[in-house]
Amino acid sequence: MKFFIDTADVGEIRQAAELGMLDGVTTNPSLVAKTGRVFREVLGEILEVVDGPVSAEVTATDFEGMKREAQDYASMHDNIVIKIPIIEEGLKAIKWCSENGIKTNVTLCFHPLQALMAAKAGASYISPFVGRLDDISTDGMHLITQIRSIYDNYGYDTEILVASIRHPMHVVEAGMIGADVCTIPFKVIQALLKHPLTDSGLARFLEDWKKVPG
Ligand code: E4P
Repeated sequence: MKFFIDTADVGEIRQAAELGMLDGVTTNPSLVAKTGRVFREVLGEILEVVDGPVSAEVTATDFEGMKREAQDYASMHDNIVIKIPIIEEGLKAIKWCSENGIKTNVTLCFHPLQALMAAKAGASYISPFVGRLDDISTDGMHLITQIRSIYDNYGYDTEILVASIRHPMHVVEAGMIGADVCTIPFKVIQALLKHPLTDSGLARFLEDWKKVPG
C-alpha cells in the first residue's frame, strides 16, 4: 500500500519523508489556506522534498477553468496530479486530462457511483472521504469495499486513494480491503508506529541491559 501525506505543511512533509515511507502528497484548498502561504511557492517546495505524486486541486468549477488550472499546474512538474471534484464539469475535465496525459485525483467522492463515473472518465485516482462519512454516522470504509469490488469486477485501473483518514484503524481497514493508497494526516502517520507494549518492552530491555556485565 502506498502512503501519501495529507497536508500542505512543508515542515510536516519533510519529517514524514525522513521516515522513509512517504510515496506522495495530497493537498486541498483548506489545507493550503492553513499555511497562509502562496500555493505555487508551497507546491514548488513540496516537489523538491518528495519524488512522487503531488495533488494540486483546481478551484474553478467550469470545464474551461479546470482545464486552464490543470494545464498550469501540470506544467510545473511531471509528478503533479490534478485534483478535480466529482461534478459534471469535473467529469469533462477528468476525461480531457486523461486524453492529454495529465494525471487526476478525483475528490469529494461519497458514493460508489461517483467512483464508477470517475473511472469511466479515466481518473488516475479516486478519493473517497471515509472520515467525513463516519462523521455523519455512515460507514466510510464500506464505501471502500464497494469501490474495490466494482473496480475489480470490470478491471478499472483507477487507484483507490482513501482520504479523510482520522485514525490508524482506517489505515488497517483500508489495507485489508485492498485500497491502493492512504492519504494520511501527519498526526496519524506518527500514531501508526505507536504501541504501549513496544514502549514498555523497550524500557525493560534497556533497564535489563544495564545488568549485563561489561
Ligand atoms: C484529501 O485528499 C482530502 O482532501 C482530505 O483527506 C480531506 O480530509 P478531511 O475530511 O479531514 O478534511
